Amino acid sequence: FEAEAVNPIERMDWDALDAAVRGCRACRLWETRTKTVFGVGDRRADLMIIGEAPGADEDSQGEPFVGRAGQLLNRMLAAIGFSREQVYIANVLKCRPPGNRDPKPDEALACQAYLHRQVALIEPKVILSVGRISAQHLLKTDTPVGQLRGRWFDYGPARIPLRVTYHPAYLLRSPEQKAKAWEDLTEVRRRL
Ligand code: URA
Repeated sequence: FEAEAVNPIERMDWDALDAAVRGCRACRLWETRTKTVFGVGDRRADLMIIGEAPGADEDSQGEPFVGRAGQLLNRMLAAIGFSREQVYIANVLKCRPPGNRDPKPDEALACQAYLHRQVALIEPKVILSVGRISAQHLLKTDTPVGQLRGRWFDYGPARIPLRVTYHPAYLLRSPEQKAKAWEDLTEVRRRL
């Protein structure tokens, strides 16, 4: 008989996972990244935020959501009573795509075991997926984000309640959508 192949990432503790991401060369993005962006916040958080990928600021600082979009995300969290330190924030991709282009499917696939392991270690009560790339990747769908928000999904084997909202970078460009994001955040708050 053959033993079932287990991805070693699925067994890693936080230190091993962090080291694996730092040294990752599973896709071509290692060639152009400055720093990997692992994730930040409370590793026992009830609420986990999952964004798209590092931008220029995140790539240089090694921390997710530290640029202009990150400042709006902090305000969105504050609006439902959370500080940045009380949640856990991560991205689908741990490395910046050059020029902030959309992640390629093979890049998201190469990176996904890291995020799965982060979710498994944290066991959040609720996941908030921000933006099209995050939502479509996590839910394995092409449905537009505007149709994914407004309802609950179950995520992963632990069936964690997942809610979709607009990306703060999009809200900076389209502030008229902030009312809908507020509704999404209110639902998240209610579920926690
Ligand atoms: N946008 C994201 O989706 N993630 C970041 O970390 C920064 C900007």
